[in-house]
Amino acid sequence: MKSEKEQFEKIPTRIYPSADQACAELAAEMADLIRRRAGENRRAVFGLATGSTPVRLYRELIRLHREEGLSFANVVTFNLDEYHPIEPDHSQSYHRFMREQLFDHIDIPDDHIHIPPGAIERTKVFQACAAYEEAIREAGGIDLQILGIGRTGHIGFNEPGSGRDSRTRLVTLDRLTRQDAEKDFLGEANVPRYAITMGVATILEARAVVLMAWGEGKAAIVRRAVEGEISEAVSASFLQEHRNARFLLDDSAAADLTQRKLPWRVGPCDWTPALSRRAVVWLSDRVGKPVLKLVDEEYNEHGMGELLTEEGPAYNINIRVFNQIQHTITGWPGGKPNADDSHRPERATPHPKRVAVLSPEPHDDVCFLGGTLNRLVRQGHEVHVVYLTSGNLAVADEEARKYAAFLADVEASTGDGGASGLGRIVLDQLAARRPGAPDTPEIRRIKSLIRREEARSACRICGVPEGQLRFLDLPFYENGRLRQFFAGPEDLDRVREVLEAIRPHQVYTAGDLSDPASSRRICADLVRRALDESPADGWVRDCYLWLYRGSDQEWATDEIDMAVPLSPDELSLKILAIYQHQSQKRQLPGREDRLREAWQQAEARNRALALAYDRLGLAEYEAIEAFRRGR
Ligand code: F6R
Repeated sequence: MKSEKEQFEKIPTRIYPSADQACAELAAEMADLIRRRAGENRRAVFGLATGSTPVRLYRELIRLHREEGLSFANVVTFNLDEYHPIEPDHSQSYHRFMREQLFDHIDIPDDHIHIPPGAIERTKVFQACAAYEEAIREAGGIDLQILGIGRTGHIGFNEPGSGRDSRTRLVTLDRLTRQDAEKDFLGEANVPRYAITMGVATILEARAVVLMAWGEGKAAIVRRAVEGEISEAVSASFLQEHRNARFLLDDSAAADLTQRKLPWRVGPCDWTPALSRRAVVWLSDRVGKPVLKLVDEEYNEHGMGELLTEEGPAYNINIRVFNQIQHTITGWPGGKPNADDSHRPERATPHPKRVAVLSPEPHDDVCFLGGTLNRLVRQGHEVHVVYLTSGNLAVADEEARKYAAFLADVEASTGDGGASGLGRIVLDQLAARRPGAPDTPEIRRIKSLIRREEARSACRICGVPEGQLRFLDLPFYENGRLRQFFAGPEDLDRVREVLEAIRPHQVYTAGDLSDPASSRRICADLVRRALDESPADGWVRDCYLWLYRGSDQEWATDEIDMAVPLSPDELSLKILAIYQHQSQKRQLPGREDRLREAWQQAEARNRALALAYDRLGLAEYEAIEAFRRGR
């Protein structure tokens, strides 16, 4: 008989507290197979993926090679896919990715490596695909296929519409996939339109398949693949037909699975206050009624009879949850002086407070707490904004060219620097650069400066004094690549030092649950560690940590500890502040997806939250910014 969980999940899942733990286990399993096969004088054949998901796995394999002598001499690999057309040395090609992330650091023989040929002429693609399939067969088939999953549900580049019987072939990339790659290529227009990918049937022939997914961005599609119908609309759902496939997930990628999201539907629950709040908010949304109007029958009909039995009748539960949510609302994010604070999210004293906003990138601060920032300043608090990374990787060349030309003009007109000034140098470098080549230090410098000035001007609008802004330019970002970042000890030291210098009563930062290799998630982890490691009897004892959600997402209404309403004027001011980050404007204005500009996303998010509070039966506000208490 199937367990309660298995009635929902049609592919075995394993949920880990972190991607690192999952990768360590999987790498150990791969190492076992490699050693066993070496003992039998045979080869181990792996199907490999690229993207941010497997980066930690590859790092662990490299560690096993360096520190534990694991040899890859008997390993044969087949990569899932490659963009088309793309040169192998392009900064975003999967050939280059695999060399940098794995092959250059282990002893795998060159002729054991197979990656679809992205630079091949279009007329030769068909033949090359057939040869790729043949090479897999000749190698004896794939022992273990590693997969990530795209937000379209693709495995490899098998976009929606790919058939169960598809084989290695040229495909057109889905719009969503190209948007996801937009950051890497600095603009959607630069993302190749095609790719060569193994087919669904090719993948399903592997003897074992492991799909990994990290971060909240994957939660919805993971649920569809694991719990939904098998369908061409989500090619990962075909894995339900495989006899030896499994999903390795971190907590946030697993968050939408029924066992996590609606645990009361899967079995008996421990009804903590947080869980009953979640269930009641869900029920209110489900039946389309405010919290105070929910009745016993509705609890029973929606699988919440257990809660009713333990804590009912419904009205008692309703009132308790309603009050909890009501107490999250405050117009005094720094605490209201001389007021009873027993039901307020923040303490009344001390007043004023020292506030540190630790902003992972130069526009996080205004996008996620522009309104709150402005309130904190107006209510007399000492607000410091610390920009953790320079954000220079998110500036398109076009923007850098504009400022470099301006600078070159100034240099020429003042005779200051002339031909050797930064503006001229950057202009020359941009003109000479090959597509996909990484930024030079000078280009990165000018891009950092652009973001700095934008941040200064946005803070001016929110009222934060210029002397209270700091730019840390953390090394993990300066030395890393987008979506493939790793923090080091120096990063932590710098965050620690800045907190020691400010000694804040409140810290605001990203509560990010996204991909562990993203800059926002790394910053979130650094801030948490710096706070955890600060002496417990010092300033940190009186410091509250307030987390905004980040990644264009918002906290669910039941997760919020502080909701700061914004008046229409405050919302306009916030939008104006976000608008200062002109370098972040999208490269293709006026396309059909209207909500893609940062200010539009922020406005929509804050308005949607106000509406959600209204629907629960609370007051009707224009917009709300939301925070969860981290400590
Ligand atoms: C990569 C591949 C893709 C990715 C997927 C997730 O070779 O085939 O299916 O696994 O797009 O990408 P990331 O890991 O960057 O989120």
